[in-house]
Amino acid sequence: MAETNFIKMAATSVLWVLILLFMVAPNCYGRRTRISKKELEIHEHLKKFNKPPLKSIKSPDGDIIDCVHISNQPAFDHPLLQNHKIQLRPNNHPEGLLRKNEAVITNSISQLWQLKGNCPEGTIPVRRTKRSDVIRASSIKNYGKKKKKKHKVSAKFSAPNTLITLTGHQHAIAYVEGDEYYGAKATMNVWGPDIQQPNEFSLSQLWILAGSFASDLNSIEAGWQVSPDLYGDNNTRLFTYWTSDAYESTGCYNLLCSGFVQINNEIALGATIFPISSYHGSQYDIDILVWKDPDESNWWMQFGDDHVIGYWPGFLFSYLTESASMIEWGGEVVNSESDGEHTTTQMGSGHFPQEGFGKASYFRNIQIVDSNNNFRLPTDLSIFTEQPKCYDAHLGNSGPWGTYFYYGGPGRNPNCP
Ligand SMILES: *[C@@H]1O[C@H](CO)[C@@H](O)[C@H](O)[C@H]1NC(C)=O
Repeated sequence: MAETNFIKMAATSVLWVLILLFMVAPNCYGRRTRISKKELEIHEHLKKFNKPPLKSIKSPDGDIIDCVHISNQPAFDHPLLQNHKIQLRPNNHPEGLLRKNEAVITNSISQLWQLKGNCPEGTIPVRRTKRSDVIRASSIKNYGKKKKKKHKVSAKFSAPNTLITLTGHQHAIAYVEGDEYYGAKATMNVWGPDIQQPNEFSLSQLWILAGSFASDLNSIEAGWQVSPDLYGDNNTRLFTYWTSDAYESTGCYNLLCSGFVQINNEIALGATIFPISSYHGSQYDIDILVWKDPDESNWWMQFGDDHVIGYWPGFLFSYLTESASMIEWGGEVVNSESDGEHTTTQMGSGHFPQEGFGKASYFRNIQIVDSNNNFRLPTDLSIFTEQPKCYDAHLGNSGPWGTYFYYGGPGRNPNCP
């Protein structure tokens, strides 16, 4: 009797243990290995892109700016940059620059983190990638890249021959095409447009383009953007972007992949611009110049009057090793139509061009760089916008502002349902 009881008890215990193992084990082990694989990936990614800093600065917006030794920057992870001799300055600068006219009443601005310190000579300021930045990305592999979407020809809007837009992306831009371009410059008004959905963005930039939009587009882009998914907030940030295969596998924002070589120790790509313009209030703008060094195939970027940020080595590209075939300036937003209607994400100041200075956003002193490395006024500048009742652009030409345009809009409104 006692024996049977004991056997019964033993059998029941064994059964329970088996049942428990059966219930718990697959979840426990299965999930745990998956979690740790993702954790490991995140860890590896952060280790790869966050180089050991010589000094770190905590910005009021929550960013950490790492001062990384210039020869230890992400660019040098690129296989083709292993034995690269860093260029500490461009060989040539475009000539004939129309100097910033003193009569233009705008304010020069910079970046928020600079209130808290600076990076020593020989280092570059890098916005540290946080765990939360990587986790927000749809996949670790896609972090810092543009989300791939099916390309669509917007033929019905009499787009320029080569302009094919990404589905759901809307533009209000000025552009030139049909010549060989060696650079572009503009002074861009800076705002903080509202974003309806975290996966949408609003940006204002210039594009240096060559190749075909469908497959092998080479693009260099620089300007300001508000992108909650990329940065985790609604701040207006200075950014760059490049691709050499139409946004497929090459390229990324800022220094989030290897490619762009930074030489400047004062400006951090991806950092918050401060201050920004307010409606009917103070206006702030930034100068951006991107040009190709005639002696090399490198494309350089300058911010403001005297901050040469760095360069994209020519070998990153195919067509752009020679010249660009199209330049665009203006705004772009993502319209995800999450509630079945047009997004309320704003472009520029969120106001239409007709409202003018202090209310609508502008690009002024638009110039291109020609084959002799001279600044030129763009000829045959055209406007393109998919839905002018949502976002629009108006060209102008006068005195100190040279060639300019106002652009932007509120997105959804009674005329843009
Ligand atoms: C960004 O702005 C939207 C509204 O435009 C708001 O709902 C959201 O909470 C903001 N996000 C952050 C991170 O502040």
